Amino acid sequence: MDRTEELAVGRRLLGHIDGRTTDLADSLFRNRVIAYSCRERARLERDRLFRDQPMFMGLSARLAKPGDYLTEDVAGMPVLMTRGVDGSVRAFANICRHRGAPVAEGCGNARAFTCPYHAWTYDLAGKLLGTTDKVGFAGLDLDAHGLVRLPAAEKHGMLFVRPKPVQQDESPEIDVDGNLGAIAPDLAALKLETYPMFSVDVVKPRINWKFAIDTFLEVYHVPYLHRKTIGPYFIGNVGTFDGAGLHGRMCVARTSIDAVRGLPEAERNYRPHVISIYQLFPNTILIFQVDHIEIWRAFPGRDDPSHCEVELTIYRPADTDKPDAYWEKNRDIAIRTVMEEDFPLGERMQIGFESGASEEVIYGRNEPSLVHFHSSIRNALGVPA
Ligand code: FES
Ligand SMILES: [Fe+2]
Repeated sequence: MDRTEELAVGRRLLGHIDGRTTDLADSLFRNRVIAYSCRERARLERDRLFRDQPMFMGLSARLAKPGDYLTEDVAGMPVLMTRGVDGSVRAFANICRHRGAPVAEGCGNARAFTCPYHAWTYDLAGKLLGTTDKVGFAGLDLDAHGLVRLPAAEKHGMLFVRPKPVQQDESPEIDVDGNLGAIAPDLAALKLETYPMFSVDVVKPRINWKFAIDTFLEVYHVPYLHRKTIGPYFIGNVGTFDGAGLHGRMCVARTSIDAVRGLPEAERNYRPHVISIYQLFPNTILIFQVDHIEIWRAFPGRDDPSHCEVELTIYRPADTDKPDAYWEKNRDIAIRTVMEEDFPLGERMQIGFESGASEEVIYGRNEPSLVHFHSSIRNALGVPA
């Protein structure tokens, strides 16, 4: 966010702290537990959320140089994303046009991809360069057998892919600003393109993917569940919330925010005291921490509503003089808090959802990010409840 917005958010937070209030949703929101446990709902989510929506894939540093590539299974779609020799980012289904083997694994830097099965070769722009048995495939039109293109984009230092092939007459470029709406300038001001990646961790908790996102969308639980870890550093149950289409931004205060009170407003620096939590619909949480960026992405288990895969990526500033041990400590705190406190409790909650004993969960007016996230899901799925 820019300086004007930083001051406005700081004012709102101090006002809430003084008045013992927080930003509120219009009304409380009841969600049926089947949203977390029903297989049919999970299939609908895969089609409407994880195929139709652009997916955040990471910051630009993930594909820093020409020739860099990454592969991922995005809710059942094998994705290959590349930075071409021309510097532009493209995405493809990571499926060989011969018999379907993945043409690339993991991530790295390459000039071309050779399929491990029968060694057909593709360039960074997905073009089929050649087959191995020239007689067996004589007459095959190489131009018509490139990798299947997926819409992709790089904007404001972020990478996006839509895990559904480019349709006829459709642009292979995602309109990122159109999709992000009002939150786009706010994200652009963060200069995300300047952050190199520090670490990647993946866990597979036995929870619905939405619960992994819910974890970050309220600080009501922080003084209770996290009283032994991050609880003492945050002001619980106080936050600002601003929705932007399907996306949203929540800002919360550290207890250290009191330090700005003695300063005239123009001199106040809220940066060390305010954490901005961006919810990029549907499955990404981008947290602008005091001095680094922490990103969580959650993916549903294949046709299984009770499992998910969660990735934590930490990006540190490029011009830091802090040693790796400092960033390692931040990574450790994030892992301990979320993976050892939030997710284990979530696994118990998931069992409760699947027990059938209770039909609904309730998100309070004091949890406006949660209310917004789940109403956005309902809207995108086109379901009434
Ligand atoms: S499946 Fe790729 S070359 Fe045969
Ligand atoms: Fe938590």
